[in-house]
Amino acid sequence: MQYDTVILGAGAAGMMCAAHAGGSVLVVDHAKAPGEKIRISGGGRCNFTNMHCTPQAFICANPHFAKSALARYTQWDFIELVDAHGIAWHEKTLGQLFCDTSAKEIVAMLRGLMQKAGVDLQLLSTLTDIAATDAGYSMTLHTPDGTTPITARNLVVASGGKSIPKMGATGRAYEIAAQMGIPMTDTRAGLVPFTFTDARFAPISGTATPARVTAQGPAFDEALLFTHRGLSGPAILQASSYWTEGAPITVNLLPDIDLLSKLRAQRQSYGRRNLTTELAHHLPARLVDHLAGIMDLGGNLADWSDAKLTALIDALSNWTMTPSGTEGYRTAEVTLGGIDTDALSSKTMEAKIRPGLYFIGEAVDVTGWLGGYNFQWAWSSAMACAAHI
Ligand code: FDA
Repeated sequence: MQYDTVILGAGAAGMMCAAHAGGSVLVVDHAKAPGEKIRISGGGRCNFTNMHCTPQAFICANPHFAKSALARYTQWDFIELVDAHGIAWHEKTLGQLFCDTSAKEIVAMLRGLMQKAGVDLQLLSTLTDIAATDAGYSMTLHTPDGTTPITARNLVVASGGKSIPKMGATGRAYEIAAQMGIPMTDTRAGLVPFTFTDARFAPISGTATPARVTAQGPAFDEALLFTHRGLSGPAILQASSYWTEGAPITVNLLPDIDLLSKLRAQRQSYGRRNLTTELAHHLPARLVDHLAGIMDLGGNLADWSDAKLTALIDALSNWTMTPSGTEGYRTAEVTLGGIDTDALSSKTMEAKIRPGLYFIGEAVDVTGWLGGYNFQWAWSSAMACAAHI
């Protein structure tokens, strides 16, 4: 069988590319349904893009690489597509756009667009024996019905990263890259909770508080959640993408409160009350109990001079700790690193040394922040590729 384009992976990037590539297109996926990560994303409502999407929200060895694709197919383009399909949406917070009803609407939209474009979709299938030929690429398609030799002018690798193997993630894109002589950057889990081997936060697991978290990168002001095994919540997931093993993270528990003024005022009226009682007006009580176990919070407010309060506030604003590790690919939302962008055209996603071979979506060393940025990269990189095919 011969196609103009074969796409490996019917995820966000693969479906978007297939729907817009033109010519004869075959999409191959080993899952039993396309777009499974879309379906479960955003708690079943899919945070499909972010209104504040800019290249600064992406991590890549080359900070300029994503600019072209993101500029040519923007969040506003995807919103227009969603609107044209009558999918209702809302902004939840920080520019994050979610479906009102269900993420399945996004999957259905992409499936519909593929059908309209006459795309062949082979589920429960995969590709082996991929080889470059004079006319493009040859490969073997394995379906539940048997094997078929396939040739195509273009091969688009859209098989994602390693995150959540239980959902069908494989390192297939990296294998194909290695086989084709395309370099890779190191991969690691991103948007992932931190773990501590001493389970220090187990007694306060389930407690959440607003925080500003930094790990060798920008500071993120969002919720922090204490868990049995460590730390989670959006502020932690964001910071995790900048964290490297062995490095400390800094947690500011007072991102928006002028606690010194508040405690001074409280000291005037309620000097005989315990500091911990008064602190619990501003921080979750269980967290205050935990903090009392690791720092001196004893005595009445009247015992706390301005200098002592200032030192306490400094400690609460710069709480530094070193995670033992992360939960890894088992729960990570994304894979950091991947196909080295130096090896790809930023305009088309085509491998510089392999005409007709493209890498799009999460397989590429471009990782967005939490909040719809990763899907936007899938849509934008897919459209850059589709426009060139
Ligand atoms: P994706 O992983 O979507 O697709 C790859 C496809 O390739 C899959 O269908 C897989 O079955 C197939 N495949 C893999 N190996 C194969 C092989 N060897 N043979 C055949 N097929 C193979 N992002 C965001 O912006 N907003 C959000 O709300 C969320 N929410 C979210 C929740 C959870 C739980 C996770 C794990 C991730 C998110 N993300 C997210 C991230 C987002 O899901 C991710 O960035 C995109 O799905 C990446 O799209 P791709 O198409 O590149 O890969």
